[in-house]
This record gives sequence, C-alpha cells and structure tokens, in this order.
Amino acid sequence: MAATKTLDDLFLDTLKDIYFAEKQILKALPKMARAAQSEEGKAGFLQHREETQGQIERLEEVFELLGKAARGKTCEAIQGIIAEGEEIMEEFKESPALDAGLISSAQAVEHYEIARYGTLIEWANQLGLTEAVLLLQANLAEEEATDQKLTQLAKASANAKAQKAS
Ligand SMILES: [Fe+2]
Ligand SMILES: [Fe+2]
Repeated sequence: MAATKTLDDLFLDTLKDIYFAEKQILKALPKMARAAQSEEGKAGFLQHREETQGQIERLEEVFELLGKAARGKTCEAIQGIIAEGEEIMEEFKESPALDAGLISSAQAVEHYEIARYGTLIEWANQLGLTEAVLLLQANLAEEEATDQKLTQLAKASANAKAQKAS
C-alpha cells in the first residue's frame, strides 16, 4: 500500500494539513485581536482574519481542481503553535511585553504557513497543476506580507514597550 503512494498523495495530504491549519488560524485571530494592546496590532490581526477567509476559499478551489472534497486533516503542528500563543496571552496578560509576545506567536504561525505553501507550490509545479500554483502563490504572498508587517510592528513599538517596566 505505502509503496504505491506518490507525489499526488503527498500533495493532497499536505493540502489537507494547511486547510485544517487555516481554519484553526481563522478561529485564533479574533482572540489575538482582542488580546492585543495596540490598535495597530488589533487591526492587523483582524485584517489577516479577512485574508485568511479568502485563503480558505482559494484552498477550496485547489481541492476542486483536483476533483476532491475539501477536507482538513488534523495538524498537530498548528495546534501546538496556537496553544503556545494562548499560553503567552495568559502568562503575559496586562503586561507591557504582551504585544511583543503576541507578535512572536503570530510569526511562528506565518512561518509554518510559509513553509507549507512553499512546498505545495513546488509540488504543484512538479505535478503540472498550473492553476493550483497561482492560487497557492496568492496565499503565500499574503503570508509573507503579514510576516513583514509583524516585523515592522515589533520594531516600531512592541519590542521597545516590552522592555520597559510599566
Ligand atoms: Fe493563512
Ligand atoms: Fe497567515
């Protein structure tokens, strides 16, 4: 059985992984927005929630291109990353370091997504799934832009605020 599995199977499996992950992220982002102390942070998390909704729709299009039902597969990695983010929210509640911690959690999420999309794009290329490549590249571009915005937010304010005892 295992010997007959090929790149198509890996691609579908990983597509299910990121589909599950995006849905978990969709639920986590409003909590992060509520927790964030800075207005910019709140707005950024809410904006990325909107983008995430669109990303889920693009993934559904990829499933459709494959003629497969859109179905997630439990991704323990994203569950762990989100759980660590919740720990930060709890342990740093009302502290000046909260936003810097939230940003670091969000960047762990973005980097997980960037890794997944990078792989999926290469595999879709290899498999000749041209339309899927474009959809996945659109998601990757949003994750990379989000990662950069988070870096800017950390550098412009959150890290310095975290350093001071209030
Ligand atoms: Fe995403
Ligand atoms: Fe993201």
